[in-house]
Amino acid sequence: MPLASEAAPAVRTEVDLGRGLRLKNRVLVASGTFAYADTVGELVDVSRLGGVVTKAISLEPREGNPPPRIVEVPGGLLNAIGLANVGARAFVRDKLPRLRQLDTAIVVNVVGFCVEDYVRLVRFLDEHEGIDAYEVNLSCPNVKEGGACFADDPMMTRQVVRALRPVTDRHLMIKLSPNVARIGQIARICEEEGADSVSLINTLVGMAVDVRTRRPKLANVTGGYSGPAIKPVALAKVWEAYRAVRIPIIGIGGIMSAEDALEFLLVGAQAVQVGTGTFVIPDLAVRIVEGMEAYARSEGLRDIGELVGALRI
Ligand SMILES: Cc1cc2nc3c(=O)[nH]c(=O)nc-3n(C[C@H](O)[C@H](O)[C@H](O)COP(=O)(O)O)c2cc1C
Repeated sequence: MPLASEAAPAVRTEVDLGRGLRLKNRVLVASGTFAYADTVGELVDVSRLGGVVTKAISLEPREGNPPPRIVEVPGGLLNAIGLANVGARAFVRDKLPRLRQLDTAIVVNVVGFCVEDYVRLVRFLDEHEGIDAYEVNLSCPNVKEGGACFADDPMMTRQVVRALRPVTDRHLMIKLSPNVARIGQIARICEEEGADSVSLINTLVGMAVDVRTRRPKLANVTGGYSGPAIKPVALAKVWEAYRAVRIPIIGIGGIMSAEDALEFLLVGAQAVQVGTGTFVIPDLAVRIVEGMEAYARSEGLRDIGELVGALRI
């Protein structure tokens, strides 16, 4: 009788997303929901993850918005953290040395308030070892263009990617917002300007009101909606992007189980990120890695990548 491990051939889980971003499996934790991988302690074996995406980093430290800045709503969360972070210098001094010890890919989420901010930030981070990729967060206001959000505007998206491409040889993953009419068009602009991948979706704009006080539940009035309720929106956006570009897509939005993650692969994502779900189950992303492998074995797959875009219509 063969041992169980001999009977079931190993499933290939690794994926190479290009320009140095190689993942041991297709599951990462999403920006803003895993801090700098320094708050989970013993709860999560980070070496089991395909990668960690850090909280957004800006050139200068940011306090973020006043509280309350997180509120639970049906189907998920609203957050208006306001990109609170330690700033680039403290990040490389205090966070990066520990992050680069981890046996997983490190993706640094970068944010700016004008094109030049992004360029200066990536140029600065590029001088430091231990970063596998940048995830460019465009869901923030461009203060030089009247506060319009970069991600909502095809031209401003193009300007950022065009400015960043010559600055780094590292993998550039552009994070797209769902709050646009045609996400496929924006994904194509990223591809044209030399992005290595696109990740989507960031949060949807949402709001909640306390009827007793007649006040918004978030001090910032509106916030970003995340969690299980946004998964159908995210799947449709990934599917739209998949039909528009050839660069890898990383699917994000409401993933709470291995089955959810597999849905994203079927509609075209090469990998996924788990966000809000980690607040409910700290090691959810590791459980999803295991669940995806179990599914692949039960389906007789040699490589989980066989599922990418394998949607039957
Ligand atoms: C509390 C919180 C903070 C977040 N901070 C960031 C951030 O700093 N940068 C970013 O690109 N996305 C940020 N996001 C968005 C997530 O990375 C993710 O795109 C979104 O929440 C959808 O995934 P989910 O439904 O699995 O949470 C944040 C989300 C939450 C809930």
